Amino acid sequence: MSHRILVLNGPNLNMLGSREPEVYGSHTLEDILAGLHTIADERGAVLTDLQSNSEGALIDALHQARGKVDGVIFNPGAFTHYSIALRDAISASELPVVETHLSNVHAREEFRHRSVLSAVCLGVVGGFGADSYAVALEALFRHLDT
Ligand code: DQA
Repeated sequence: MSHRILVLNGPNLNMLGSREPEVYGSHTLEDILAGLHTIADERGAVLTDLQSNSEGALIDALHQARGKVDGVIFNPGAFTHYSIALRDAISASELPVVETHLSNVHAREEFRHRSVLSAVCLGVVGGFGADSYAVALEALFRHLDT
């Protein structure tokens, strides 16, 4: 059966391309999603995506994804570092979630070194710019195929 993947992006990621390009690169979120859709099409997977600056909308999306998708690629932005509500929503979704970051958060400010979400995620990918998403998607496919 074809895999159903949700790509979730949190706060400020709608600003990619113009937001701190020296940290996040020059690709827009639309560029990144177009690349992921191409990969998904090649693999016969069904990919849906949502970006929101609101914690509640991301929580709602995780609740709704439960039982409807097979896995999630999630860049939670700054919520990574403090949202216990998102952590609980990931757990409640009972889905494999790949925490994904463009930047290497461990090479940045100390407050970014801690993720309150990683422990309830399948795995974490970061530091490869826009390619982090493609790496995360490949890892999720491999997980779902085994
Ligand atoms: C980010 C890293 C976070 O620390 C930051 O708040 C972001 C983007 C990343 O993709 O590198 O908004 O998740």
